[in-house]
Amino acid sequence: MKNKMIGLFIAVLFILPASALADGKALFKSKGCSGCHGAMGAKASGMIPQLMGKDVALLQEKLTGYRDGTIKSKGAMLMNNKMVKSLSDEEIVAITTWLAGHQ
Ligand code: HEC
Repeated sequence: MKNKMIGLFIAVLFILPASALADGKALFKSKGCSGCHGAMGAKASGMIPQLMGKDVALLQEKLTGYRDGTIKSKGAMLMNNKMVKSLSDEEIVAITTWLAGHQ
């Protein structure tokens, strides 16, 4: 499973040009993530963890886990699970590549 994800990630990295970065930013907004995490994923307060600049593999593992229900986010923050349910693998790659790629 993990290898599959990494393989997919590498494949998508080669297929998608730099436009994935712009898509990631747009998706982060259109999917409502920025409402909690801030426009750049920079917000870190209370329960909200900073996302930008984090390891891309870690972000993908978390997002895929939240989406597939293998990771439960804590308590009231189950909200995050709901938000990520609609993300496709490609969208997760686009968002995490963008998040990991800026400071
Ligand atoms: C309602 C507020 C809220 C929204 C909306 C939201 N998140 Fe979160 N997110 C959180 C909170 C709170 C956590 C920490 C959860 C925990 O640790 O249990 C989190 C955790 C994460 C993590 C794991 C970070 C880490 O280092 O552990 C990622 C990745 C993430 N969110 C991405 C997203 C994406 C992508 C979206 C949009 C599809 C999104 N979030 C929408 C509140 C939100």
